[in-house]
Amino acid sequence: MSKSMILLASFAVAAYAAGPAIVPAEFKSNQTLLPAYISLSYELSGFPSFAGTKSSPNQYSVNLLQNIAKYQGDMPRARVGGNSQDRAIYDATLQTPTASRCSADPLAIQCIGPSFFDSYGAFPSTKYSHGFNEAWNNASGLSTLEATVPLACKAIGPDQLETWEFGNEPDLFIGKWRPNNWNETHYVAEWQNGTKKIFELFQQHCPELATPVKFNFMAPSVSSPGSKLKPVTIFNNGEDTENIIKQISVHNYITGVNSPGVTLQNSLMNHASTVNSINNHVNTAKSLATIPGLEKVPYIQGEENSLYGGGRAGLSNVYGSALWVLDYVLQAASTGVIKRLHFHQSLGASYSAWYPVGVNATTNPTYYGKLAAAVFMGKSEERYVLPLPDAVNSSFESAYAGYDAKTGRLNRLAVINMNEFNSTQAANTRESKTYEFMVPSSTWKVERLTAPGADVTTGVTFGGYAYEYATLGKPEAVVRRTEVLAVVGARTLKVTVPASEAAILTRL
Ligand SMILES: *[C@@H]1O[C@H](CO)[C@@H](O)[C@H](O)[C@H]1NC(C)=O
Ligand SMILES: *[C@@H]1O[C@H](CO)[C@@H](O)[C@H](O)[C@H]1NC(C)=O
Ligand SMILES: *[C@@H]1O[C@H](CO)[C@@H](O)[C@H](O)[C@H]1NC(C)=O
Ligand SMILES: *[C@@H]1O[C@H](CO)[C@@H](O)[C@H](O)[C@H]1NC(C)=O
Ligand SMILES: *[C@@H]1O[C@H](CO)[C@@H](O)[C@H](O)[C@H]1NC(C)=O
Ligand SMILES: *[C@@H]1O[C@H](CO)[C@@H](O)[C@H](O)[C@H]1NC(C)=O
Ligand SMILES: *[C@@H]1O[C@H](CO)[C@@H](O)[C@H](O)[C@H]1NC(C)=O
Repeated sequence: MSKSMILLASFAVAAYAAGPAIVPAEFKSNQTLLPAYISLSYELSGFPSFAGTKSSPNQYSVNLLQNIAKYQGDMPRARVGGNSQDRAIYDATLQTPTASRCSADPLAIQCIGPSFFDSYGAFPSTKYSHGFNEAWNNASGLSTLEATVPLACKAIGPDQLETWEFGNEPDLFIGKWRPNNWNETHYVAEWQNGTKKIFELFQQHCPELATPVKFNFMAPSVSSPGSKLKPVTIFNNGEDTENIIKQISVHNYITGVNSPGVTLQNSLMNHASTVNSINNHVNTAKSLATIPGLEKVPYIQGEENSLYGGGRAGLSNVYGSALWVLDYVLQAASTGVIKRLHFHQSLGASYSAWYPVGVNATTNPTYYGKLAAAVFMGKSEERYVLPLPDAVNSSFESAYAGYDAKTGRLNRLAVINMNEFNSTQAANTRESKTYEFMVPSSTWKVERLTAPGADVTTGVTFGGYAYEYATLGKPEAVVRRTEVLAVVGARTLKVTVPASEAAILTRL
């Protein structure tokens, strides 16, 4: 946000605290986001189930992804990695894509076989990043690198490549795969040594990818901005001396599944908690941008979600978390410096947006939060987002304006009323609030993200549509109603939103 905008915003608070929030009719920022703002990260071990194979894709997953692509103009990027990336040992004799044991290494707890790589290309028009194992310091790990680089580079190829990754959350190697005194200097030396080896393997097996443009990484993929391996120290120690880092990736979770005091209202349906979590990244991103050579390297969250440890049933898999997803995306986008998000997906994890296969195949509420966010964002590379703190009264609510980056014109509004309402409460006790915005004379289409209560795992709709497994993720009309609002009186737009509901407004 530019300095003049900050001044304008604080002026609005002072002068109009009791009235409708002033929404600038035009806004321009100097910060451009990456395309596919809403992207995904797949735990490597579960990726084959989410994706299927190139010759037999998981059509349910493809449909769900294409719904998002329809709005954001781009398929979510597929980052394949996570904890299992650093456990993955390759076994050429495996008949399945993954296994928990294999003959290549009797001590391995995660194995992958040749058919693992058949999953790349299953999602159409999608760019992928594959994460190589860094944690090994044994013979089977070295053979894994030597065997999987050729397989990955051939399976992904130049057209589907987003970037590569070497190591996931290396800060958590300390005291586990690495000694307690392992620090940024050791990490940087190891990362550079490993990526050099990967480059040599590319030269041998995929020379078309061993070029300055195509050979690049997301890194350092530490678990949080406050990681034991400090991102700023990592880069000050020369991580990117070869200029091969395409995206600075730092992971984020709001808190853990077993953290004291974690509840929907305290931790997720809570704008202050979301802002606080995101601000740690903004500070890190800004510090990194002052390091010579990093000024133009985009900062992303290559893996993020609600609660680390897979999410918690009753919190991460309920509709209240869909409101969190929406608030999280819009707040992160409004910073301008967090250029893309990868929501993490893992088989059976309650924070996954959907379960892709088997008897439990289902669309989780958080999928709907991503869809609502995609409708607000449109093409993220053409979107500026401005938070509207004057429009709301408490940290259980948030509001945003969206601008077309090309013209600076206001064309989206969002209101997220995160006051917790449970489906177990009487429906007639669900309180609504009316939010007022001062905008130019205009009419707006309203699409609501709603469900019977914050606690439900099913029955969610966005814009009156469901996207469930029964229709293989294709839209099914549930509520047939087109809602249009117009500015009345003194340029005021009034939007009424019940507790635990959000509205996305698109200017007509
Ligand atoms: C954008 O503008 C702000 C405020 O003028 C400035 O601090 C920041 O460095 C600029 N960022 C870029 C990427 O130009
Ligand atoms: C080799 O390293 C991997 C970690 O990537 C580990 O899971 C496996 O147990 C190790 N194998 C041996 C023989 O130490
Ligand atoms: C890491 O530890 C080594 C000693 O093993 C030391 O020389 C180096 O300065 C340390 N690096 C950092 C960033 O603290
Ligand atoms: C450097 O990479 C080689 C493989 O190319 C590996 O054998 C060696 O253990 C690595 N050394 C360090 C310090 O990471
Ligand atoms: C389905 O969900 C149930 C309940 O969470 C779980 O016990 C079971 O293992 C799951 N089945 C599969 C195939 O994932
Ligand atoms: C909704 O239900 C959850 C779980 O039982 C409970 O912790 C929370 O306090 C309830 N919220 C309201 C507003 O009643
Ligand atoms: C904020 O609180 C004031 C005073 O309690 C009330 O008049 C107003 O309607 C509230 N606004 C919203 C958006 O809830």
